[in-house]
Amino acid sequence: MDYILEMNNISKTFPGVKALDGVQLKVKPGEVHALMGENGAGKSTLMKILMGIYTMDEGGEIRFNGQPYHVHNPKEAMDTGVAMIHQELNPILDMTVYENIFVGREIRKYGLVDKKAEIEEAKKLIADSGLHVSPTETLRNLTVAQCQLIEIIKAISVNAKVIVMDEPTAAITDREVELLFGHIRKLKEKGVAIIYISHRMDEIFAICDNVTVYRDGQYIGTGTTQELDEAALIKMMVGREITDVFPKLEAEIGETIFEAKHIVRADNKVRDVSISVRRGEILGIGGLVGAGRSELVEGIFGMHKLSGGEIYVKGKKIRVSSPRDIIKEGVALITEDRKVTGLNLSGTVNDNISMVAIRKTLSGGLYSKTKARQVSSEYIGKLKIKTPSGDQIVNNLSGGNQQKVVIAKWLLNDPDIIIMDEPTRGIDVGAKRDIYLLIGSLVQEGKAVIIISSEIPELMGVCDRIAVMAEGHLSGELDRSQFSQETIMTLASDIAV
Ligand SMILES: Nc1ncnc2c1ncn2[C@@H]1O[C@H](COP(=O)(O)OP(=O)(O)OP(=O)(O)O)[C@@H](O)[C@H]1O
Ligand SMILES: [Mg+2]
Repeated sequence: MDYILEMNNISKTFPGVKALDGVQLKVKPGEVHALMGENGAGKSTLMKILMGIYTMDEGGEIRFNGQPYHVHNPKEAMDTGVAMIHQELNPILDMTVYENIFVGREIRKYGLVDKKAEIEEAKKLIADSGLHVSPTETLRNLTVAQCQLIEIIKAISVNAKVIVMDEPTAAITDREVELLFGHIRKLKEKGVAIIYISHRMDEIFAICDNVTVYRDGQYIGTGTTQELDEAALIKMMVGREITDVFPKLEAEIGETIFEAKHIVRADNKVRDVSISVRRGEILGIGGLVGAGRSELVEGIFGMHKLSGGEIYVKGKKIRVSSPRDIIKEGVALITEDRKVTGLNLSGTVNDNISMVAIRKTLSGGLYSKTKARQVSSEYIGKLKIKTPSGDQIVNNLSGGNQQKVVIAKWLLNDPDIIIMDEPTRGIDVGAKRDIYLLIGSLVQEGKAVIIISSEIPELMGVCDRIAVMAEGHLSGELDRSQFSQETIMTLASDIAV
């Protein structure tokens, strides 16, 4: 079988980091090829080399369609037939859909951009894809999933032979994932090859044909999803067997420490939802993406106006008009949203982690930089944050490792009630396990944890109780003895009457 893409002996060195060390990737036309590996294994780096964003070290070779392949930027890659759909594509939000589709390859008439022709052509492409947006809509008004589809449309229209998708499902709803998979299947039929990066095993087995695994910048191997199972893949990624993917530590359950009663959001995205959690307890909030789970906790956190509801922390009624009011009471909200978590991407790992530690050391009187650094390195170790040192800029960390910095930062604040919104999204299996153990040790100390997750096995594995939401309301609550994938799914698809 001929390969459409062959990458051989690819290396990439960053200051202090050998991100890739002689790896290979061979992709056939019409296949979905998964790239897997722990956070920081080098997946995104390899794809950035393919797109001409990074230059590889000497000695590597890339062949596309049998020919030597040299590109210097994403536009050249696209012109050659390689497109990438990434999460942080930074679309220019004021651009219209049709402008985005034709950027850099405008249709011209007498030397001028022929807007009318572009709009017409875009309309056809959009209709073909089953998307319902106007070509003149600005990207700002589209959802992440719609922006992704526009990128796919663009890739199809330039006749891309290889399309890279780096964690494409991280920010889209389950229904949209199904739509995306539909598009992937159509692309396959046309002979387009997809390189698919994801940490979600279910997706790998649902949509991918082959898997290539890297570990610490090294090539480990390639196999088919037919012959590999989850355990084998984990072993390739982590280098050892992990038997209990969702470890649960025993903790003593005490009194109710947090209660939100009859929460109603002014925008009606949450309607009469009550939840509570006890010391030592882990409460899960399940449901489909878009069910109002994040909206609930953001409402509780004072980030959105509530039109009804009461919040009690340690038995005391709290008035929350801004996040500060509730953080002060010892409640933390860990989300992926960097605006909320205040991750300073251009700051170092130490800056970010010790920002909180500084406040802590200050309350003891004097600020000690040494102390702050000590605390920071303790958490780099605890969460196995992959970084050459605490002085690395956060922006240079891999996606999953940035998320670990967010978690470290909040834990340092020593909250009593920790609400986590999809804490392990984008995080590899081994590191997920570390995070569950950490959560376990927190509840053993008498803290309470609320976890929002779209992964049912994760919720069933680590929670004591699961509240399920559907369409903005609470559709049910289950004790550990009542947990089953089916029950949770049924409750999650409950439609409000
Ligand atoms: N611009 C950069 N400067 C310095 N180091 C970098 C840079 N980009 C990536 N790295 C480092 O290279 C290594 C590989 O990172 P990469 O982003 O490729 O990992 P990944 O496999 O995509 O991980 P994840 O699953 O977390 O997204 C990491 O150690 C990362 O910190
Ligand atoms: Mg990555």
